[in-house]
Amino acid sequence: MRIILIGFMGTGKSVVGKKLSQIKNVEFVDMDNEIEKVQGVSISYIFEKYGQEYFRNLETNLLKELLLRDNIIISTGGGIITNKGNIEILKKEDKVIFLDANVETIVKNVSREINKRPLLKESSNLNNTIKTLLSDRYEKYKKIANFIIDINEKNIEEVVSQILVSI
Ligand code: S3P
Repeated sequence: MRIILIGFMGTGKSVVGKKLSQIKNVEFVDMDNEIEKVQGVSISYIFEKYGQEYFRNLETNLLKELLLRDNIIISTGGGIITNKGNIEILKKEDKVIFLDANVETIVKNVSREINKRPLLKESSNLNNTIKTLLSDRYEKYKKIANFIIDINEKNIEEVVSQILVSI
């Protein structure tokens, strides 16, 4: 069993993944946290110092490594689908869950931790930046998802239980 959570920043992939892993009693890896742990610096620092492309390579390498494991729940970063190769790999999986949220929900959720998001923290109009990025990415998330969970107006427990009845 391998569950992969995908979706935009601020859709709860990390908290939901952690909860699911506790319920299912399997390993949990949050990709951003894992990259920070291995590199010993924050995602923001990696973006600033080495650029986005460097980060995307680290992300792709980690994804490949994690998909060799079984009994694992993986929370991906929101940009995992910006790499074509990742889309192809993820299409072969059978439990890719897309946490689907509208712009309003995302703005509300990311506002709490904006400094952790290099792609958003410099934005002068958060609403617009998110809208543009999301419309670029939306179809890609949908294309590789085996399950789509609408998270708007739902709390973590509700999202988790909807996943558990769906998969
Ligand atoms: C990114 C999302 C972030 C992190 C990085 C880039 C993106 O992860 O990987 O800041 O391109 O959407 P979260 O979705 O966990 O915030």
